[in-house]
Amino acid sequence: MSIFKLKKPMSRAGKAESIKLPRHIAIIMDGNGRWAKKRGLPRTAGHSVGAEVFRKIATYCKNIGIEYLTVFAFSTENWKRPDEEVSGIMALLEKYLHEAIEKMEKESIRLAVMGNIEELSPKIRQLVNKTSQIAEKLNGFQVNLCLNYGGRDEIIKAAQKYAQDYRDGRANELTEETFAKYTFFAGIPDPDLIIRPSGEYRISNFLIWQSAYAELYFTDTLWPDFNERELDKAISSYSKRDRRYGGA
Ligand code: FPP
Repeated sequence: MSIFKLKKPMSRAGKAESIKLPRHIAIIMDGNGRWAKKRGLPRTAGHSVGAEVFRKIATYCKNIGIEYLTVFAFSTENWKRPDEEVSGIMALLEKYLHEAIEKMEKESIRLAVMGNIEELSPKIRQLVNKTSQIAEKLNGFQVNLCLNYGGRDEIIKAAQKYAQDYRDGRANELTEETFAKYTFFAGIPDPDLIIRPSGEYRISNFLIWQSAYAELYFTDTLWPDFNERELDKAISSYSKRDRRYGGA
């Protein structure tokens, strides 16, 4: 039986474990550049393999019963990279958005793009709009693609929108719940598990508001080498954690 048919991750012995699954997993897909460098390849080759791994992991998440997968594909700071690398990543994203438009309905994957879309190319904006139109009609597993996204930027933008609504008499007292409604992730449960591969131990401006009580998982594996078994390990580690949310 295919591992993808299972609703639970596999144990080492190949048996489904009784496991507490996270509803929402978020991943910083890091290490593409180093993976390529080790092989004497251009950095874009690392991103290209990284995009394949993302597809594989998204399918796996859907098949084991994860409800939301959020990935950091391009940050508000990634524009500082060489033009060639930025256009390489944009080309991969464009390709993925095209594919998503073709397959979302059939595969029942809701794709949402989170970030400052208006600063992206007209072509990508058009594809993003098309994917949101399709996603509106779908239910079930959701992939959130963070694109031109920054956690601090998201908080500033949410604060500005709230302030405007307050001035216009459309908003009252500011609470955590109200504020969350002004973020890109309005209505989506906070991530339960945030995974960062590649041996870096930081959040890098990812989901700053939403990560308040997320469980963190780090691995030295570079993103292009990440696979279903690695995800199983992360979920298994998450499953054993005692989440107290500040309680005793
Ligand atoms: C971080 O690795 C990775 C990125 C900034 C880009 C991630 C983009 C992709 C995986 C492709 C996106 C496409 C789709 C379809 C989701 P890094 O380049 O910073 O690696 P390094 O730390 O080893 O240099």
